[in-house]
Amino acid sequence: MPLTRSTPKSSLATLKGLLPFLAPYKREFLVAGIALVVAAGATLAIPYAFKQMIDLGFGAAGAKSIQHVNTYFLALFGVACILAVATAARFYMVSWLGERVTADIRSAVYRHVVSQSPQFFETTQSGEVLSRLTTDTTLIQAVVGTSISMALRNALLFVGGLSMLFVTSVKLSSIIIVLLAVVVLPIVIFGRRVRKLSRDSQDRIADASAMAGEILNAMPTVQAFTHEAMESSRFSSLVENAFNTAMRRIRARAMLTLLAILLVFGAIVFVLWLGAHAVIDGQMSGGELGQFILYAAIVAGAIGALSEVLGEAQRAAGATERLLELMAVHSPIQPPTLPQKLPPRSHNGAALVLQEVTFHYPSRPLTASLSHLSLVIQPGETVAVVGPSGAGKTTLFQLLLRFYDPQQGLITLDGVDIRQLDLHDLRAAIGIVPQDTVIFSANALENIRYGRIEASDAEVIAAAKMAAAHEFIEKLPQGYQSFLGERGVRLSGGQRQRIAIARALLKNPPLLLLDEATSALDAESERLVQSALEAALIGRTTLIIAHRLATVQRADRIIVMENGEIVEVGTHASLIALGGVYANLAALQFHAFS
Ligand SMILES: Nc1ncnc2c1ncn2[C@@H]1O[C@H](COP(=O)(O)OP(=O)(O)OP(=O)(O)O)[C@@H](O)[C@H]1O
Ligand SMILES: [Mg+2]
Repeated sequence: MPLTRSTPKSSLATLKGLLPFLAPYKREFLVAGIALVVAAGATLAIPYAFKQMIDLGFGAAGAKSIQHVNTYFLALFGVACILAVATAARFYMVSWLGERVTADIRSAVYRHVVSQSPQFFETTQSGEVLSRLTTDTTLIQAVVGTSISMALRNALLFVGGLSMLFVTSVKLSSIIIVLLAVVVLPIVIFGRRVRKLSRDSQDRIADASAMAGEILNAMPTVQAFTHEAMESSRFSSLVENAFNTAMRRIRARAMLTLLAILLVFGAIVFVLWLGAHAVIDGQMSGGELGQFILYAAIVAGAIGALSEVLGEAQRAAGATERLLELMAVHSPIQPPTLPQKLPPRSHNGAALVLQEVTFHYPSRPLTASLSHLSLVIQPGETVAVVGPSGAGKTTLFQLLLRFYDPQQGLITLDGVDIRQLDLHDLRAAIGIVPQDTVIFSANALENIRYGRIEASDAEVIAAAKMAAAHEFIEKLPQGYQSFLGERGVRLSGGQRQRIAIARALLKNPPLLLLDEATSALDAESERLVQSALEAALIGRTTLIIAHRLATVQRADRIIVMENGEIVEVGTHASLIALGGVYANLAALQFHAFS
């Protein structure tokens, strides 16, 4: 289910999808709403107070004038105080809501994504998910945090301002409505264009940084192939592209500024001129003219802001759509509603049975990676799995962990169908050392402790000793506290594997899966790990995928796989005697060594 890249403009109705995230904060929305209405009211009162001050304060003659001036200045200041408090309160509440809701959405999306099965990550690039988490949520934050309140405030100001215009002067209002339409329309249209260009330039920058991210992670390969110059120029051309897009935006923006100032001031001067004549002719007082101009400014501002908000809301609708799409993806691997419990752990390890398991990866419906696989593994057994590359060995482990469900057949752990188990119970019973070891950017102690978060330092060190990792960790500059670098770059391949083994052993699982866990070790270190593991394997069932026969020989049983099927089962001796696939592999290896 690859996620689509939808167009940035979507129906505003999509924003309804945000309601579940807004619902918990009804009270905060109410407070913000009250602050907003009070602030809008105060804004609308200011021109009126202004007029009173001019006409009655300055205009009235005589002894009363001083008193009037005092009263009206005080009233104007009072309105300003209310405006200040209400505006600050609105800003605070609305910004809080924006940040809060965005944080909730980010956590919810992340929580959802980390519970997806590997199938999801086969089809979705992690960069895609990251941009959902950052860019898309930021767009939504803009809407919740500013646009909603901007829209409400400006709608109130528009309606209120317009009414007051007509109350002040019907004739001038009619003129100014026409003028506003003439002035605001081109500004709005031009503004749209500027916004689109600025979105384009953000996309170009995202392209460049996505590419840089990938290349920086592969620096040694780039340098080994001496492609530094090529990569630099590839990046430069993306940066140039971003620059050119930015320049188009800047030119458009400069034009917009010119247009806006010229048109708006032209209109204001024109109306002011008309008004001045009306004042001279005695049709209007000076205060009324002042009041009129201020209301006209409020209305014009409201129109501009509303058009801006509409654009933002449409972008946020697009972002919401993408996020909801992500939230709607459901992992095909679901725990049962009434999970069964595993029987109490035996001191011998877990019993594992596969019956006629047939499986193909969802992306390869035509080729079975495992076909009719049947296998009974006794508690405490150590079973080696060998076979050529692509035989399906790793796939078998994936099914045991229930990263995928087989299309046919059954897998049971200690007699319970693994699909009847809670995913956490199942995976808690399994320790795995994967083919590609994963080291987190943390120190050695924390990396091993990832196997069991609550383990004590002493337990971590014991596990490291079992995995033959203690000695090299001790020799690191800060011992167990040494930072291992991003993806473990400060370790050798074999050291990374031993950390991974220690991590799996620390978990102390009844079923241990080792996928070429010692492939990067030299013969001597492998022998060390092997003999250390010997003690660790007592009391647990272990499946070991290995190529090297020295590792395989010690197993109780060897399973030979080819093309997703089990072709031979036996001990080293019996399989050699059989003279089949295994005997061939063995002959090749001994030949190579001799
Ligand atoms: N995620 C996947 N999607 C589609 N096909 C896959 C996927 N992973 C593995 N395969 C295919 O399934 C088959 C079995 O792969 P698997 O990884 O199990 O091999 P393997 O025996 O572990 O090989 P190796 O020894 O090289 O690790 C291969 O043909 C492989 O191309
Ligand atoms: Mg493999």
